[in-house]
Amino acid sequence: MRLDKFICKSTEHTLIDALALIENKSVAVNGVITIEASHQVHKNNVVTLDGKILTPRPSRYFLLHKPMDMICSNVDEKYPSVLNLLDVDRKTELHIAGRLDADTTGLVLITDDGHWSFNLTSPKNKCQKVYKVLLSRPILADATQRFQDGILLQGESTPTLPAKLDIIDSHNVFLTLTEGRFHQVKRMFAAIGNRVKSLHRQQIGNLELDVDEGDWRNLSTAEVQALSIND
Ligand code: URA
Repeated sequence: MRLDKFICKSTEHTLIDALALIENKSVAVNGVITIEASHQVHKNNVVTLDGKILTPRPSRYFLLHKPMDMICSNVDEKYPSVLNLLDVDRKTELHIAGRLDADTTGLVLITDDGHWSFNLTSPKNKCQKVYKVLLSRPILADATQRFQDGILLQGESTPTLPAKLDIIDSHNVFLTLTEGRFHQVKRMFAAIGNRVKSLHRQQIGNLELDVDEGDWRNLSTAEVQALSIND
């Protein structure tokens, strides 16, 4: 973690305060005054502020059920940010691990642990995301095989990774992906001549959405660990 972030995570100081403290030579790493805000702090480093040892607060992990017309961004834009739904302190330290479009509902993970969210969303991790999709046209018989084989999305040079399609009825399907390209579900169905009418994320890894729309809860330590399995 960057030194300036480490200070924010260990104190009530803002990022601007942290930068000033570093510049004013109030911060030492392993006994050496450090003036580089970007200096990487590792687990076994001892960081002091004016001689006092800093201990970072534990990271936070939340599951949230995103409603329609809210955005997965830290600031409100055309629609309000989903962070408005969270009733916790220091929201500016949080970010969303794997965003959903404004018109998509469902499971969103929120954390202040950048390492965890990076690993979770990396395609290398192959973490499964399950979407329930309502289509505007009947699903074609060859769709399952085409998604399994990979689809070349418009403007991209590599096909999508194998995706699993489970057909519920002519217009309703579950789609399981192990990557998260921009508007991936909508673009995959567009590529086979269909259109997504509504989209809902039901599951990430083994974690099922289990709170009502607009509600949230903390992840347990076991849930956090299960999602960092390939770390
Ligand atoms: N794919 C999409 O097209 N939209 C989402 O919100 C998530 C996945």
